[in-house]
Amino acid sequence: MKVTVFGCGYLGATHAACMAELGHEVLGVDVDADKIAMLSDGRVPFYEPGLPEVLQRNLESGRLHFTSDYDEAAAFASVHFLGVGTPQKRGEYAADLRYVFAVVDELVQRLEGSHLLIGKSTVPVGTSVEIKKRIAASGTAADIEVAWNPEFLREGFAVKDTLHPDRIVLGLDPEGDTAAVTAQVEEIYATILAEETPFLTTDLATAEMVKASANAFLATKISFINAISEVCEAAGADVSVLADAIGYDQRIGRKFLNAGLGFGGGCLPKDIRAFMARAGELGAAPALTFLREVDSINMRRRARMVELATKACGGSLLGSNIAVLGCAFKPESDDVRDSPALNVAGQLQLQGAGVTVYDPKAMDNSRKLFPTLGYSDSVSQACELADAVLVLTEWKEFVELKPADLEPVVRKKVIVDGRRCLDPAVWIHAGWEYHGLGGTPRVV
Ligand code: UDX
Repeated sequence: MKVTVFGCGYLGATHAACMAELGHEVLGVDVDADKIAMLSDGRVPFYEPGLPEVLQRNLESGRLHFTSDYDEAAAFASVHFLGVGTPQKRGEYAADLRYVFAVVDELVQRLEGSHLLIGKSTVPVGTSVEIKKRIAASGTAADIEVAWNPEFLREGFAVKDTLHPDRIVLGLDPEGDTAAVTAQVEEIYATILAEETPFLTTDLATAEMVKASANAFLATKISFINAISEVCEAAGADVSVLADAIGYDQRIGRKFLNAGLGFGGGCLPKDIRAFMARAGELGAAPALTFLREVDSINMRRRARMVELATKACGGSLLGSNIAVLGCAFKPESDDVRDSPALNVAGQLQLQGAGVTVYDPKAMDNSRKLFPTLGYSDSVSQACELADAVLVLTEWKEFVELKPADLEPVVRKKVIVDGRRCLDPAVWIHAGWEYHGLGGTPRVV
């Protein structure tokens, strides 16, 4: 089949490359000409394991192309995926839908004949109905169906999650030809559906809400364990063992119960806020007030990390040298959007510490966002003369660190584990002062 994918960010670029991998002819579309030039040249504008190979393979196969030209896109296919960003509005909780609506407005005026618009972006419930209204108001003679097919990919696993998703959800417009749209989508995902991937068809509102609810649940799970970690810390209990123990109950599950610095990135924080804002607009605000608490528990982790680092530096940050290992919002990503690690690094610097950051992949993005922080090209350079070493993103490289790797360079043998990813016994037995965010377990 021939498809276009609008938006070539983390979601769109991955989706475009993966649709080509499934055998379709794909045109990726983005208004950012630099991004289009890079992708056309086989270079991915962000770090995503496995994506460069899929991109390269499909550019070479001739099935994948990129453009900034909407005329070309409108003429290329009759199925159009919408994968543009829906960031948080400045100074508000609500999602900013300007990019979604801009694509719709620009595309629709160019369409003739029958087309299917499939939304993939995370949007407030009701957005597809808004899109339908815009299409109607445009006066187009084209016959345009709207469907919603939310994307659940995680950064760092984007290719795997796109090609082998846990489920496919398709929201259909009851006023449209639901059978024809379902058949088209089944054809697009035929390879995936052949793996017996669950396929749920529903209405547009439910499909939109599935995504918002999934992210809200994940965020809640993380904040739940972080709230428990605060009590563990006060009681001298070990939240990591506790998470293992409750996680064995299959109704609970161990995943997303890692206590620490909490969630960040371009999705969970802004998605729970947009969900609250939308519930408010719908008159259902009280239903989601608990998400405000989820957000506030999460933000408290960052403040608590700053307190712990201050304690580790002997009560004052002034004049302390702090090594920050990790500034991506999570490992296997170069994304620093709402990164808890960078937020903490910035606060430490504001309070008078000298901060040197190292991350295997996110240095360029960090430098752009926080140009005043110090940066080093390796763990050992970042830790030179450090009074405290902070592990804020659990990259494998940091998890595998041994005390002897850092001992020749640090000033003080003090380590603060913001992700509870190190083995405290190893560090304590080597004579280090170990602090764990969420409580330091008793080591014998
Ligand atoms: C998330 C959802 O997982 C994905 O399904 C959705 O499509 C987009 O949003 P992503 O933002 O890529 O994906 O990252 P994710 O792996 O969910 O992690 C989000 C944040 O939570 C990270 O900052 C991570 O460090 C943190 N986290 C995750 C924890 O603090 N503890 C955990 O146990 C798990």
